[in-house]
Amino acid sequence: MDKLVVEGGKTLSGSLRISGSKNACLPILAASLLSEGSSCIRNVPELKDVSTMASIFSSLGRKVDLSGDVFTVGEGELTNMMASYELVSTMRASVVVLGPILAKYGEAKVSFPGGCVIGARPIDLHLKGLRALGADIKIEGGYIVAKAKKLKGTKIYLGGHFGSSVLATANTLMTAVLADGETVIEDAACEPEVEDLCGFLMAMGADIKGAGTPTVRVRGVKELRGADYSVIPDRIEAGTYMIAAMITGGKLFLENARVEHNLALIDKLKEAGGTVDEKENGVEVYRKGAIHAVDITTLTYPGFSTDLQAQMMSLSTICDGISVITEKIFPDRFIHISELNRMGAEIILEGSTAIIKGVKKLSGAPVMASDLRASAALVLAGLVADGRTEISRIYHLDRGYEHLEDKLSAVGAKVWRVKE
Ligand code: UD1
Repeated sequence: MDKLVVEGGKTLSGSLRISGSKNACLPILAASLLSEGSSCIRNVPELKDVSTMASIFSSLGRKVDLSGDVFTVGEGELTNMMASYELVSTMRASVVVLGPILAKYGEAKVSFPGGCVIGARPIDLHLKGLRALGADIKIEGGYIVAKAKKLKGTKIYLGGHFGSSVLATANTLMTAVLADGETVIEDAACEPEVEDLCGFLMAMGADIKGAGTPTVRVRGVKELRGADYSVIPDRIEAGTYMIAAMITGGKLFLENARVEHNLALIDKLKEAGGTVDEKENGVEVYRKGAIHAVDITTLTYPGFSTDLQAQMMSLSTICDGISVITEKIFPDRFIHISELNRMGAEIILEGSTAIIKGVKKLSGAPVMASDLRASAALVLAGLVADGRTEISRIYHLDRGYEHLEDKLSAVGAKVWRVKE
């Protein structure tokens, strides 16, 4: 397993380009299965999760071509309606092939995705949405087996214990687009990635109103065509590099980053003492002076994203006071705390709330990445720590950050990969 080594203490400055959004492109790729026509999806990041999706397509009998940032889905029908455990278990998001395969072919068998280190991650809302549309669903041998003779539009309340669900909304939407009549999804996820999925579905010929709002109306159509579509920039990658500029006291221009997708984070960065300027084709972030303590509660969009919680905690470790971070989406998403404390941070956890007492300095240490965003948080901490931080298990990072060490090196960081 590869390691990442970060030599701390460099101030970052310069410009880096934000890649296409991982969380937007995965459901969009899955949606292309709704048509036998060819689709061309652009601005797709070069990531492990994308190549896993390509492997799923191949296992379903659909030809794909991945060259640069263009993912082309060839013409043709699926020859297999089953997404295997071997593939789905490596990437939870692959459960989004369930809705499109069911909607187009009337049956689908997809491995149950299971939990992960950030928590239990149930799929009851996915199944609720599909069942409401008329699917018969059984769990057999670790697989979700869904069948539907006819899918019929209906009114669905999709809110769960922790609010709306991004991928359950995606699965339900992708099933509703080919159902008979009108579907109304209440408490739909409003994340930009869901709005982007609706953009792609509409380009395929779907009839959708209210994309990006809690009430989405879908009028089913008989068939969809392939489409040519460009994915939105990755707001989580952009947010991570905004925090990189803040934590190192540097100045970064993030090409393609969109202020409107990161308002909750930007609000907190300003409160913490940063300056965030919207420019013509991106965002510039810098900090002069100390980092102030800020309190954060993660929420569904447009609230503060859980996917930026760990990175924000790294920033808080060296603030000039006490910060309080409460996790309302994944209450157990705190494995990074013990690793940050290994680097000299002072963080205690009370239930789903972390209390972070700012320290003057972090010191580099060997640490272990536990999940994608926690790994990014450790890189950020390493950038500002004294000495060397060695981060193991960085395959998590390769799932979600395109060319991370190249991008950071280009703006002055000393970071490199050690192959093992
Ligand atoms: C997506 C993102 C992930 C992000 C998360 C929350 C992708 C590929 N991943 O994951 O990066 O952290 O949104 O913004 O887009 N829940 C249920 N039942 C369900 C589904 C979810 O109770 O059937 C709960 C979850 O346990 C969690 C909350 O709802 O507490 C939100 O999860 P959800 O929005 O579904 O996350 P994902 O869509 O899996």
